[in-house]
Amino acid sequence: MTSAASSPNIDEHPMMGPGRGRLEGKVAVITGANSGIGRAAARQFAREGAKVVCVDLVEVVAPRIDVLIESEGGDAVFFQADVTSSESCQAMVALALERFGGLDVLVNNAGTGVFGRVDETSLEDWNRIIDINLNSAFLGSKAALPHMMEKGRGSIINTASTFGLLAFSRYAAYCASKAAVILLTRSMAIDYGPMGIRVNCLCPGATATDRMIGGVLRGKSPEEGVAALKAVADSNHALKRLANPEEIAYGMLFLASDEASFVTGHALCVDGGQTIKA
Ligand SMILES: NC(=O)c1ccc[n+]([C@@H]2O[C@H](COP(=O)([O-])OP(=O)(O)OC[C@H]3O[C@@H](n4cnc5c(N)ncnc54)[C@H](O)[C@@H]3O)[C@@H](O)[C@H]2O)c1
Repeated sequence: MTSAASSPNIDEHPMMGPGRGRLEGKVAVITGANSGIGRAAARQFAREGAKVVCVDLVEVVAPRIDVLIESEGGDAVFFQADVTSSESCQAMVALALERFGGLDVLVNNAGTGVFGRVDETSLEDWNRIIDINLNSAFLGSKAALPHMMEKGRGSIINTASTFGLLAFSRYAAYCASKAAVILLTRSMAIDYGPMGIRVNCLCPGATATDRMIGGVLRGKSPEEGVAALKAVADSNHALKRLANPEEIAYGMLFLASDEASFVTGHALCVDGGQTIKA
């Protein structure tokens, strides 16, 4: 596999290690894999030896994640799909089984947000956020579980958020959806632990992805944008900077790997200290 240092790809990050075979022999499905946290996770998982089904609604990102992974000697396939559709979720799991012969790890990562108090949020937006952030985790898991139950093993990782633990002003639909993801995770951990399946979630703090930064800068002057980004970075109270997507991906990697074989029902905060202080 190409080393991190010699990678020709522009979105290489120094925090992306060369891989030590921690997921050797495993097959992973990652949703929202073409951008941000999911993209970093797909790339990291592949470097660690996993074969990766990269699922995303959007494929017009260059280089597309599967192309990027294959350019580094990894094994990946891209599946363009909307994870709010039950049929699409069934198809992404079927693709993993057909192409790579199994499914060990499912990362339900696709997600988005909309700002607004309840009175400012349309029913359409509310339903859209619940669909993308919560229902997709239900549908993805529902598709993967029969295979994992038959094998008697598997790891499911849901991307929640620190905003599933902390309330944030004018972010009602997002906070509600992420809190539900955390309790879905814990409920599933109880139900499937006896069958050898671990279910955990990740709670990232503010992370420097295009979606997050675009949301913060929207409608602001350059000066206001700088101040707003500093305030968001400071909200990760202890480290006082934004996370890089790769730092969140390492948390996912741990939960996916056999090193986390006794970890289930956990909401892992990778948040620079955001949740340690009021
Ligand atoms: N960036 C942050 O600060 C932050 C903090 C906490 C939690 N999160 C969570 O992390 C996850 C990833 O966020 P990100 O910041 O990397 O965002 P991102 O927008 O960079 O990546 C999300 C990806 O999901 C895809 N996606 C969206 N809806 C989809 C659908 N219906 N079907 C298939 N794919 C779909 C998008 O096309 C995109 O590629 C989300 O669940 C988000 O809520 C992000």
